[in-house]
Amino acid sequence: MVSRVIPVESFDLVVFGGTGDLARRKILPGLYRRFLAGQVPDDARIFGAARAEMDDAGFRQFVAEAIAEFGGSASRAAEDVARFLNRLHYVAIDAKGDSGWADLAKAMRPGVVRAFYFSVAPALFGDLAERLHRHGIASPESRIVVEKPFGRDLESARALNATLAEHFTEHQIYRIDHYLGKETVQNLMAVRFANILFEPLWNARHVDHVQITVAETVGVGGRGSYYDKSGAMRDMVQNHLMQLLCLIAMEPPYRFDPDAVRDEKLKVIHALEPVGPDDIVRGQYRGAGKGTRGSYCDDAENPESRTESYIALRVNIANWRWKGTPFYLRTGKKLRARASEIAIVFKEVPHSIFGDEEGWRENVLSIRLQPNEGMTLSVMIKEPGPGGMRLTEVPLDMSFAEALGEDGADIPDAYERLIMDVIRGNQTLFMRGDEVEAAWAWTDPIIAGWEARTDKPRGYDPGSSGPEDALMLLHRDGRRWREIRE
Ligand code: NDP
Ligand code: BG6
Repeated sequence: MVSRVIPVESFDLVVFGGTGDLARRKILPGLYRRFLAGQVPDDARIFGAARAEMDDAGFRQFVAEAIAEFGGSASRAAEDVARFLNRLHYVAIDAKGDSGWADLAKAMRPGVVRAFYFSVAPALFGDLAERLHRHGIASPESRIVVEKPFGRDLESARALNATLAEHFTEHQIYRIDHYLGKETVQNLMAVRFANILFEPLWNARHVDHVQITVAETVGVGGRGSYYDKSGAMRDMVQNHLMQLLCLIAMEPPYRFDPDAVRDEKLKVIHALEPVGPDDIVRGQYRGAGKGTRGSYCDDAENPESRTESYIALRVNIANWRWKGTPFYLRTGKKLRARASEIAIVFKEVPHSIFGDEEGWRENVLSIRLQPNEGMTLSVMIKEPGPGGMRLTEVPLDMSFAEALGEDGADIPDAYERLIMDVIRGNQTLFMRGDEVEAAWAWTDPIIAGWEARTDKPRGYDPGSSGPEDALMLLHRDGRRWREIRE
């Protein structure tokens, strides 16, 4: 299958923090891949902006190196890279000062889409927003893209929303949660709402429970100072896992339209019940020393740290569709495999006409986010051959990479897809301000619960499946976690 490429209008995109880690690893290589796909018009321009003094040539060299290192399977042909680099420029700008702004204002063209990617620390968002206005650079149609973390609690998220709202309206603000840009995450909506098959079963009458797992093999080394103030709850659950949960649990929106989708997600967040301490397991990897087998406290350079590098929760949704069907969420660093999966575990058949069949398993719809993006529906069939009616479980397997006719190389990275949505002016896959605030309103009391105590997170071995206690979270409900494997 050849993927359809939808052309976009011409644009001027300014990446504030254009020399930073996120720009180098994700944004700029992502733009290059979209360029190769024909989505960056000939006259589109991309500006890097940061304090460091640099000319266009220096920035182009920086981007060429970023493409070489992080371009994935994209062509490295010199002429392709050179054609892309021609679209790049650099402006030295201090978000907190006044130098560089007049140059940027002069460089902006009228009549094309203007987008400003704030790939800088959130403390600078207000400065950037204010100066974009003061220097007449932001027009009513301009868009700004802001990165996580979007606050660290409800109060700071509200303050950040208020700061941005001083200069931009909600329809101009694109809050990135890169999980929403993942191919499989969007496929979740297609599977749910473009097929008649699943919707009648998609409720507490037929679904026993849901498991959402985002397991990583990496530790926090290199970004320990950020992570130690955050932990898995703030870093992953409040945003990425929450978004996944919403997409599974939400009612069908009346249209695939930004506010229709976000209204439905918001209702799910409002319906989340508070989570008590018995329904939470926090963990911290504890090995010897630094490196692959090392310990969290060493990586975070804080020997007394009580921050969790792993968390598992049992979450209930108080509405008609889901009452009685728990959602089990878990995410952690330095686990046995990099594997992210949503598993919809269906209930048993009401009565087995085959008697107590040993091989019987419940049907599971497994949606693999990464790696090996795809979906598997496990169904029971008769074991082939003579010997009576013995049942066996077989997977109905669909790999998205195979379905796309490539080895996965054509699946766009989340960032490239989201940036193109910004240019197209489509906010469906971006978080709205009220959504972010509602997510913090649910998260804050959970964090306050453990901050009021003095216990440390449970230890787990690097390379394991997480702390033993997390197993109990399901065992006590007569359930078990699915294996974490690639
Ligand atoms: P870096 O520290 O690597 O880069 C920061 C960038 O901002 C640099 O280009 C820096 O250049 C520029 N900068 C710093 N101060 C100013 C200033 N006063 N005026 C203008 N530019 C400034 O950060 P990251 O790229 O890692 O992160 C950027 C944002 O993205 C952060 O909010 C982070 O939380 C978020 N994020 C990052 C992820 C990642 O994987 N890296 C993942 C998810 C979110 P200079 O010093 O020359 O000014
Ligand atoms: C980021 C978190 O938002 O997502 C990181 O800050 C995490 O801690 C990353 O490693 C995971 O993203 P992905 O796309 O690799 O699953």
